[in-house]
Amino acid sequence: MKVSARLDFLPVTSDSATVVHSLYLNCPTYIALIGGDMPSLNDIQRELDTLRHDTRRQAVLLFHQDRAVGFLDYKVAYPDLHSATISLLLIEEKLQGQGLGKAAVEQLEAMLRSRMDRLYAVVYGNNEQAKRFWERLGFEHLRDSGPTLSWYLKALK
Ligand code: ACO
Repeated sequence: MKVSARLDFLPVTSDSATVVHSLYLNCPTYIALIGGDMPSLNDIQRELDTLRHDTRRQAVLLFHQDRAVGFLDYKVAYPDLHSATISLLLIEEKLQGQGLGKAAVEQLEAMLRSRMDRLYAVVYGNNEQAKRFWERLGFEHLRDSGPTLSWYLKALK
């Protein structure tokens, strides 16, 4: 069932590690798909510490009806000054297919449109579902970087 979603974007802080970890735990199919081990809470804490040192990188928790439903990690002014790049959009598995991912991307596009010309999405691994999702949202396949990274692009202006 599709929801008419308005999401709140809450910047991730070092206190968010438990919530981010829960979201990963609730996405076992994605973790299996990219062939990785489920990250530990320590892994997530380290990752959040790393991204706090990169001022262009923005990590947000996506809240819907006062509950964390997803995680979004993107970088502004990358790969060039007028572009932003999404490296991960993760919606809790049980809530996928309800319009939350689309709502998150549309809200991000609206936030970025005044200062960025382009939005990239980088799909890692053999993630055909994600590729179809980005195409459905109007992104075009740009190139593959090696066998495991596919770049998608949407003009914001
Ligand atoms: N195949 C075809 N179409 C799809 C698929 C799919 N697997 N998934 C979504 N879509 C389409 C929907 O039909 C919908 O189209 P519509 O608007 O015409 O009805 C549109 O995409 C939006 O669908 P949502 O319900 O908003 O998608 P969802 O909330 O499930 O979010 C996401 C998509 C982010 C891929 C989610 O399923 C998820 O978290 N998956 C696991 C993690 C993942 O793979 N994330 C992407 C990694 S790549 C990156 O982040 C750059």
